[in-house]
Amino acid sequence: MPVSRRKVTVIGAGNVGATTAQRIAEGGLADVCLIDVVEGLPQGKALDLAESSPVQGHDHAIVGTNDYADTAGSDIVVVTAGLARQPGMSRDDLLLKNAGIVRTVVANAAAHSPNAILIVVTNPLDAMVHVALSASGFPKNRVIGMAGVLDSARFRTFIAEELDVSAADVSAFVLGGHGDTMVPLPRFSTVAGIPLPELMKPDRIEALVARTRNGGAEIVALLKSGSAFYAPAASVAQMVDAILNDRKRVLPCAVLLAGEYKVDGLVVGVPIVLGSNGVERIIEISLTGEEQAALLASAESVRVLVETMAKQPV
Ligand code: NAI
Ligand code: 2OP
Repeated sequence: MPVSRRKVTVIGAGNVGATTAQRIAEGGLADVCLIDVVEGLPQGKALDLAESSPVQGHDHAIVGTNDYADTAGSDIVVVTAGLARQPGMSRDDLLLKNAGIVRTVVANAAAHSPNAILIVVTNPLDAMVHVALSASGFPKNRVIGMAGVLDSARFRTFIAEELDVSAADVSAFVLGGHGDTMVPLPRFSTVAGIPLPELMKPDRIEALVARTRNGGAEIVALLKSGSAFYAPAASVAQMVDAILNDRKRVLPCAVLLAGEYKVDGLVVGVPIVLGSNGVERIIEISLTGEEQAALLASAESVRVLVETMAKQPV
């Protein structure tokens, strides 16, 4: 029987893209095509990664390219291409510049891999999922944003440190957009099934929630230039694994809602079942009035970005 090799294209060979390529190949998940607009960068990083394969003991192909023809037939396309905020650049400048980049790269990738599932990483995340939906024309089950896995991983890490328990036993629940308005939900966060409020005082939970909301900025402040990439790449790899191996993982992901959680036509982070069809279903839970209000406020912040992009189409 012929061996069926799965293929993942990663667009953007920067910190998140190259680390994602490494995790996918070294994790035994798929062959990787790494593509960037800068000549030599994806080729150099792909060659360096390929030269690790004998030591790492895998035989996945890793190729670097500037040509979308090489991405053809990908099962999954991960979009990390974009600019980071520069001095003098407003949030809206970044929004419009990255929207232009994401629109172009997604249109190119979708033309060569019409059956792929897209995982969007570029910020501002929720708005970029809107751009990817429109540029690809793909159905909403095949366009998914990565943020909730990362945000909940940060919350899990902080809970584990605080309680001095294994992070593997901590599960955490984060809803909403990727940013200041994200909605960590302590009452659905557990340690080996024990609800967090049974184990931690409210003021400490609040402190960890605040740290989670600020998780991206905390890393930026330490690094001085650039943003997080190890945990983001690990989060993308977990989503890739769920899709390629049809694991039906229940993961928080940014998806287009159509009335779920009282949100219609906006991309927001919610728990989904992630499998070989991409978003297999959205899991809806009952929220308290306060939690629902926080989620709607988060959705409204995404609406503002979507409206800004509509006024100045790229
Ligand atoms: P980076 O600056 O290291 O890499 C970005 C890469 O995109 C560069 O190599 C650049 O040449 C490439 N690029 C720019 N325009 C391109 C185009 N038109 N076609 C192909 N490639 C192009 O940035 P990093 O750290 O890898 O972050 C990438 C993006 O991911 C940023 O927008 C960042 O804010 C976002 N991010 C999102 C996270 C999330 O949770 N959703 C977590 C971490 C980062
Ligand atoms: C983060 O949360 C920059 O969005 C990125 O680290």
